[in-house]
Amino acid sequence: AAAGAPASDLADLRVAVSTGGTREPIDPVRFLGNRSSGKQGVAVALAAADRGAYVHLVAAHVDEGVLDKALHHPRIAVERALTAVEMDAAMRAASAEADVVVMAAAVADFSVPEVSDVKIRKEDGTVALDLVENPDVLIGLVQARRPGQTIVGFAAETAADEAELRERGIRKRARKGVDLLAVNRVGWQEGFETAENRVLFVDATDEVASQAAGTKRVVADALWDAVLRLR
Ligand code: CTP
Ligand code: CA
Repeated sequence: AAAGAPASDLADLRVAVSTGGTREPIDPVRFLGNRSSGKQGVAVALAAADRGAYVHLVAAHVDEGVLDKALHHPRIAVERALTAVEMDAAMRAASAEADVVVMAAAVADFSVPEVSDVKIRKEDGTVALDLVENPDVLIGLVQARRPGQTIVGFAAETAADEAELRERGIRKRARKGVDLLAVNRVGWQEGFETAENRVLFVDATDEVASQAAGTKRVVADALWDAVLRLR
């Protein structure tokens, strides 16, 4: 569907979408984070809701103002989940009632197991951070998949060229066991904090089923078109 045009091809579909970047605390003033703005995941939620779906949007850290439209949409309920562990719990609960699940959040791969209650100070000397691997939320959702549920992941990859990007996307789609993986190329100059995006959609046939380029809303609508073709 064209952005802005009335459409109801997702009418009454229940969807769970995650967005933003988790922040893993180190001490009361510091965290491990990433550059996700949350814009693409929010665009996915808005596109679904505008096409008639009921959306449960689970948001980690997002840039200022990014959630505004979602907070006022009659078919979107917004919940916050700031760490990987919170995201895991929130998305498990949301997915238990969803027909389609989209993990667009940038979940930190590691966290600090022993968070300091006091600020870590230079005068205490050199610090080494012990890190532990976070739960893989998406793999957990795939393992708990309901009958008929469609699960979509995102992957932001650095790649030297288009062929490497496709190869990485195909491998990650299989490793995650998702029905669809939206793959986009990132680097110092591309992919983050931008309005535009370019994405390959890899499905379980291990092919690039479709592609999209344009605003994050255009990419979001293309994602829902690709989901509808799978259902
Ligand atoms: N993801 C997740 N939980 C994690 C890490 C990632 O649910 N702990 C999800 C992301 O939301 C995304 C997908 O998995 O939908 C791919 O994330 P990505 O970081 O590309 O994959 P990883 O398996 O973490 O692999 P790597 O970062 O090493 O490339
Ligand atoms: Ca990762």
